[in-house]
Amino acid sequence: MALREIITLGDERLRKRSEKIEKITPELQALIDDMVETMHESAGVGLAAVQIGELLNLIIVELPEDEEEPHSGERYIVINPEITKASAEVEAGIEGCLSIPGYVGEVERASSILVRGMDRRGKRFRLRAEGYLARVFQHEIDHTQGTLYIDRLTAPERIWPVTEGEEEEVEARQQIPADATPSLAGEQVHEN
Ligand code: NI
Repeated sequence: MALREIITLGDERLRKRSEKIEKITPELQALIDDMVETMHESAGVGLAAVQIGELLNLIIVELPEDEEEPHSGERYIVINPEITKASAEVEAGIEGCLSIPGYVGEVERASSILVRGMDRRGKRFRLRAEGYLARVFQHEIDHTQGTLYIDRLTAPERIWPVTEGEEEEVEARQQIPADATPSLAGEQVHEN
């Protein structure tokens, strides 16, 4: 396993569509292990392969253990993930992204989704996700399409600077930082 560098806003690979994975190979297993290690090191709740510069359709989602959060502590490794159903009902919530350090923004996501894909052995599966878990899946699957959360802000000014490294914590609390200066931050982030 190896720690990998996370690419950030401005790197054009973040805007590309990831390629479908056709074969389960030892290289793919190594990539998955690197992603897990890199995500844990960054205290992230999800990571897409493109974020470490690999344009392959692969995501990891893992919410930190929390008694009140269903499915927290479970690690989902999904090859070629696809949302097959999304609820009409949406929820606004706060998101951060390891590829956009120093900011969080407000995004509406479907409250509940059905995802299908393959596990790391190539076995097909489906899962239903709700609430925060559904949000993280939608965010990561967006990455595989070259979409970032800043494309989906509820309004251009609904983005706030946070101390770098605290994005995930703010996201987990779902609280807008009190000392935020919205419009300036919005312009900076949209520079890519
Ligand atoms: Ni992200």
